[in-house]
Amino acid sequence: MVFRQLIRRLGTITRLAVVAASLATVVSFSYFAATYLVSRDGTVSTSTYTSPLTSTVSKDDTTCLNPYAQKGYVWFSDKREEINTTWVPFYSGLLNQKYAAAWNEDGSPAEPVFNAADVYSDDRPPSEVLDTTPHKWMQDIARLHLLLLKGSMIDEDGIRIEPGKKGKELTVDEQNEIKELEQRLFWVKHRRIVILSDSVERYQHAFLCGRLGQAPVIGPYGAQTTTWCHVPYLNFTVLHWHLSSTSTSRPDWWWLSEMKVVPIEERWKKYYLPTVNLTIGVNGKSPDLVIFQSSLWDHRMFVEARRADKHEFGLDLHRPLNWRELRFYMQRIRYIVGLFRELYGDDFPLLYRATTLRREKFGNVGLYDLGRAARFVAHELDIEIMEFGQMVQGYEQFYFDIVHIGKGPLSVLWANMVFWYLFRALGGVEVKGQLVRMPNESGPYKLIDNWDVCHDVYMKDPK
Ligand SMILES: *[C@@H]1O[C@H](CO)[C@@H](O)[C@H](O)[C@H]1NC(C)=O
Ligand SMILES: *[C@@H]1O[C@H](CO)[C@@H](O)[C@H](O)[C@H]1NC(C)=O
Ligand SMILES: *[C@@H]1O[C@H](CO)[C@@H](O)[C@H](O)[C@H]1NC(C)=O
Ligand SMILES: *[C@@H]1O[C@H](CO)[C@@H](O)[C@H](O)[C@H]1NC(C)=O
Repeated sequence: MVFRQLIRRLGTITRLAVVAASLATVVSFSYFAATYLVSRDGTVSTSTYTSPLTSTVSKDDTTCLNPYAQKGYVWFSDKREEINTTWVPFYSGLLNQKYAAAWNEDGSPAEPVFNAADVYSDDRPPSEVLDTTPHKWMQDIARLHLLLLKGSMIDEDGIRIEPGKKGKELTVDEQNEIKELEQRLFWVKHRRIVILSDSVERYQHAFLCGRLGQAPVIGPYGAQTTTWCHVPYLNFTVLHWHLSSTSTSRPDWWWLSEMKVVPIEERWKKYYLPTVNLTIGVNGKSPDLVIFQSSLWDHRMFVEARRADKHEFGLDLHRPLNWRELRFYMQRIRYIVGLFRELYGDDFPLLYRATTLRREKFGNVGLYDLGRAARFVAHELDIEIMEFGQMVQGYEQFYFDIVHIGKGPLSVLWANMVFWYLFRALGGVEVKGQLVRMPNESGPYKLIDNWDVCHDVYMKDPK
């Protein structure tokens, strides 16, 4: 809290100037002349949400329990059903008599031997454990999309088709399912999400868009700058702003040719700000959620810098980073937080996404160093951590190259997490898999108030 105040925006005038400058740039792009978003914005239908709370718990329950911050494991369900993938949190109580007693009441051993035939015949966690896993939002949204397409209620671009023609091929059950899904998902409508990160997230972003039938739109300077997708019938937009380390310059000793501009200050003005209009949610000021991360490029930058400085031949990925590197990196992560505060103010949720590692089991020490340094900065700046990187450590089989996690179970997990945080930002409360409170559709729209209900508790989650 305190730090959030310290690095808040320099002043309204600066912010307006920044936005104004960006608007001028937006208008000058012929790229935007297509008004991809604007032309389709009108097709959004109004919400049908009227259902009661789906809860067995009290409506006023604001228990703060982040499933993704608990220790647990990824359960892949069935390999053919990656959409069912979920994080299984180990909630307190799991070591009780029922699940883990060593001895039965009669004194005999509860599980005398590790019986492979038993263990591998059914690898599902017990249903009462599965019931406490976080809600699978991606599954819901993908299912709704499929049904709407099937019933010709939307076209392939995700635009609503006029009633009259619709619903013909749907069974009554499917029609009811659509109704139910629309009620549960009404809060996804009109939302804006910004993700500032590297290509690890660019792919995750693209996979999420893909599940909603949208190929990401690539900004005027290429995919390594800005991409976004907009789902018309949901009026839902997710943008990816591509970052290329926290470096303050583009030194001549190294950089990929795609990365023409490296310092975030310059990328901010040249690439990101021209898309800022697409990021503004219904509060007229900010997106509904911002997630950011920088590490792989920083690691590479430090390794390359050392090679250049010492005239070394190979890349030493095994070198732990040193004090000055880490201090530089931490200051720059803080600087990025300041950029967001300057642009959007304080009233929006900001998350730091935990560092993912390289697929190879070697050459990760610098990433561990950066990951810990970033966690420290996030803690000091009162920013919660989206533990994705931590949770997927070791899943090399799902990488499609040295650093990128592919489309599959882990990208479902990533999307579910993003929606979990978005749900919370809108005032939703989920406790042990129960949707205890839905966002209030007519209620005041104050993201940070919603966020702050559990924020202090979540800042204390074990890391
Ligand atoms: C996957 O999820 C769907 C919907 O919840 C369910 O009907 C199906 O049984 C699940 N599949 C497995 C293998 O658990
Ligand atoms: C961006 O938003 C501003 C303020 O709402 C508006 O005046 C401007 O026309 C928008 N620009 C584009 C390109 O949509
Ligand atoms: C779409 O969402 C934006 C941002 O939240 C909002 O300003 C706009 O009014 C929405 N459009 C419609 C047609 O509801
Ligand atoms: C939703 O918000 C409205 C308007 O602020 C308020 O009157 C109503 O009590 C809220 N409903 C719930 C369930 O909190």
